[in-house]
Amino acid sequence: MSGSKRVAVIPGDGIGPEVVRSALEVLDAAGADFERIFLDIGCGRWQRTGQAMSDEDLAAVKECDCILFGAISTPPDPNYRSVLLRLRKGLDLYANIRPFRGKGLDFIIVRENTEGLYSGLEEVGVEESRTLRVVTRRGSERIAEKACDLATGRRRLTIVHKSNVLRSDRLFLEVCRSVAARRALDCEDMLVDAAAYNLVVNPDRFDVLVTTNLFGDILSDEAAGVIGSLGLCASANVGPAKALFEPIHGSAPDIAGKGIANPVGAIRSGAMMMQWLGEPEMAERIEKAVEAALAGGARTPDLGGQCRTEDVTQAVLREMGGQN
Ligand code: NAI
Ligand code: MG
Repeated sequence: MSGSKRVAVIPGDGIGPEVVRSALEVLDAAGADFERIFLDIGCGRWQRTGQAMSDEDLAAVKECDCILFGAISTPPDPNYRSVLLRLRKGLDLYANIRPFRGKGLDFIIVRENTEGLYSGLEEVGVEESRTLRVVTRRGSERIAEKACDLATGRRRLTIVHKSNVLRSDRLFLEVCRSVAARRALDCEDMLVDAAAYNLVVNPDRFDVLVTTNLFGDILSDEAAGVIGSLGLCASANVGPAKALFEPIHGSAPDIAGKGIANPVGAIRSGAMMMQWLGEPEMAERIEKAVEAALAGGARTPDLGGQCRTEDVTQAVLREMGGQN
């Protein structure tokens, strides 16, 4: 592959650059070979120039095959437009895929990424504000198809919704059910509040979950807590042509600059990127090395350990060396 591939690298703010550096070191050691286009986008840029991301940046990103993203702090500006939302919308990254692996658990949350309560259709008033929750047949169909792709060969698909109260979710549920039936997949559905409860008390009943935007956002931070730390979790934002890979955590200003951020979520995001770029064996090697390093005690303070970011990165690199 992949010397011809171009990856936009957006380290961002806070711990973003710290963990992206680790991910790139591991990708180098794995032999990943792609052109890197570093882009200065985020809150730091906003503080210097008044703009977090320019139209030229978006154009530069569109010239790349995919994006490796750290995290971006939200600037204290009421008119700020989220960079991530602009990228997700601008590149039509409709499927947010979040695998959770740890504490003997292994499940995936598939979150619709472009509509729902994050449609951006809002009326803001002094006495009353509204946000429009948009569910479309096409949007539901394509996220259901993506979830079914991921559920094929696994145990079960769970459709998470709130259709007893939200009539917009009746469409989501109906469409997901019919896609799963057409694909002959074992499928159940669950109300989102029950899913939140079951994720804590009975997480191993889950395999692949598919849900709307806000529910997926909340359930995935909960899932991260269930497997041990936000710092362990990776994600892919996938569209018809492009994709963005990022750890699910934010910029963590409370620990930024201390050298103790957990790099595993970013490293795993790099592995998901290689899978998407057509290098599944490389992705598998990185994931195995991460698991071996964690099992060997390479743990940052969020996991109760005393390792630094660099120690965990070196442990993963050692495990990769040992695979040969
Ligand atoms: P956060 O995810 O940055 O941090 C939540 C807690 O988890 C903090 O205590 C943090 O120290 C810890 N944590 C997160 N990642 C960690 C890691 N890799 N290793 C060890 N500990 C880790 O969420 P928070 O504090 O709500 O947001 C901070 C900033 O990040 C805000 O400006 C927010 O808007 C932004 N944010 C950006 C996201 C993105 O770029 N995708 C996602 C979420 C938040
Ligand atoms: Mg979130």
